[in-house]
Amino acid sequence: MRVDVIETPGLITDLRGRLCVVVDVLRATTTAVVALAAGAREIVPCLDREETMAKRSRCQGRSLLGGEEMGRRIRGFDLGNSPLEYAGKMAGLSVFFCTTNGTVAVRRAYEASGHPVYLGALVNLSAVAGRAAEEAPAEGIALVCSGRQGELSAEDLFCCGLLVERVGAALRRKGASINLGDAALVAAHFARANEGKAHNILASSEHGRYLASIGFEKDIEFAARLDVYDLVPVFDGGRIVAAQQMMNAPPHDPSQADHEIH
Ligand code: MLT
Repeated sequence: MRVDVIETPGLITDLRGRLCVVVDVLRATTTAVVALAAGAREIVPCLDREETMAKRSRCQGRSLLGGEEMGRRIRGFDLGNSPLEYAGKMAGLSVFFCTTNGTVAVRRAYEASGHPVYLGALVNLSAVAGRAAEEAPAEGIALVCSGRQGELSAEDLFCCGLLVERVGAALRRKGASINLGDAALVAAHFARANEGKAHNILASSEHGRYLASIGFEKDIEFAARLDVYDLVPVFDGGRIVAAQQMMNAPPHDPSQADHEIH
């Protein structure tokens, strides 16, 4: 079974048939886990402010606008991208969500694979690793780092390295042999060399330092905790829901993309 780490969304090529896990530890995928755990009905990942506003305007249910630009709440939006903002009172809400790197990576991974895309972070590490190993298709697994402004992020590489180890172990238990790409190999070494140091990795990373400089130190502490949630967000091409929820719902119909929220 082939397992790759893709260091930045710009390196995504043809991933047809592969199972993708997109990681944006600071902070989009961490926030998505928290919002769904707090009862959000769905999260609609958007590419820019205009798309977010347009999709929201067609939503007839209870909804809100969430997302960031340069780490701060987008002007006119209800919430930013701090996971702490999403920890309560989300029940039944549709979240129209736009972030600089994370939502873009999720959308690209879906286009490139044509398969539902899982969202991973440290806070749901074991849950997402288990799900990926369980559902791994013959075409293999791609773990995608969302990165920062087109560059690699240490915190995403660290998380992907932990995923390589956990997914690999689970697949081996099922009798599969694992073929790691070099980026996956490097990520796994990086994660192993820094075992138990998640907070250090996040706090010393470029984006971690930036977030701290604009007042989001608490997000770093929050996002650095492993296995707090047993929940795996999955994007079906239109919306992100908790994986269990998607298994009970009809698959996304791309021709209905602009009318899916009612
Ligand atoms: C992103 O998608 O670029 C982010 O999650 C940035 C952030 O808000 O920390």
